[in-house]
Amino acid sequence: MMMLNMQERLKLQHFLTIKKLENDQVEGLIDRAEYFKAGGAVPEFSQPIYAVNMFFENSTRTHCSFEMAEKKLGLQTIPFDPATSSVNKGETLYDTLLSLNSIGVSLAVVRHSKNEYYNELVNLDNTQKLDMGIINAGDGSGQHPSQCLLDMMTIHEQFGHFKGLKVAIVGDLTNSRVARSDMRLLKQLGAEIYFSGPEYWYSSEFEEFGNYVKVDELIDQMDVLILLRVQHERHQQEVTFSPAAYHSEYGLTVERYAKMKENAIIMHPGPINRGVELASELVEAPKSRFSTQMKNGVFMRMAMIEAVINGRGLGGKK
Ligand code: CP
Repeated sequence: MMMLNMQERLKLQHFLTIKKLENDQVEGLIDRAEYFKAGGAVPEFSQPIYAVNMFFENSTRTHCSFEMAEKKLGLQTIPFDPATSSVNKGETLYDTLLSLNSIGVSLAVVRHSKNEYYNELVNLDNTQKLDMGIINAGDGSGQHPSQCLLDMMTIHEQFGHFKGLKVAIVGDLTNSRVARSDMRLLKQLGAEIYFSGPEYWYSSEFEEFGNYVKVDELIDQMDVLILLRVQHERHQQEVTFSPAAYHSEYGLTVERYAKMKENAIIMHPGPINRGVELASELVEAPKSRFSTQMKNGVFMRMAMIEAVINGRGLGGKK
């Protein structure tokens, strides 16, 4: 049972980034997500709450998981497809949301290719009337708050703490909003971060969070291995890419898996490139938490949505 103080600490106007979250709020969100996962009663809201999921980049997990979370919380979800929307007639993101807000939508879950797209939606001047909670479902190569928090929940379920855990983030660091979110929050929570994969994807940006180490030098030391998808769609100039060569040099092969610590876990935000980041037969191996991450995502997103509903006073207990 959360203390009243924590309920107050989990009232948020928007959920845009993990950068402003303090450790007690992260723990509170994990507690709340675990409560929902254990079958705890969902809050009853005194009025219908209408939400929209606006995914301007492709998604399977995040989109469907937010929709599931909304349904479990009893929200009404308004369909929105960017491909058939008036965005294609040149309507801005702000004006699109203003339209949805005007017809009664009070929560928007948004994924967009532009880093920090949300600034134009939340830093309003006094002539602007937009009054809705924005939940960031991924902004370019910036942040992926819900993936980060479901990752924290999954690690916490395994180890019960973060302090001193050795965590390697391996792969396409340059393009990864998951890496940028996870490294920051894991460091704040007391984990030791290492980076691996092709060294040209490691840059000075990552130095304050952890060092680069070759995968064969860290594999038997890590408690958590976070594998990142190679994001070809974000590469400006695609160099000749050999999936087999990547897998052999940087990927989690069956041989490397055998060297991992007994209690270690593997995570991957998905979608997985089988045979590239990891061997196909390891996707559902005992150390893999891929399915657990996706399952936890629904409950963490319920906790995040609830925090914004409470922060904006939309719910009001019946
Ligand atoms: N993890 C993740 O963001 O997956 P999707 O792109 O399928 O939502």
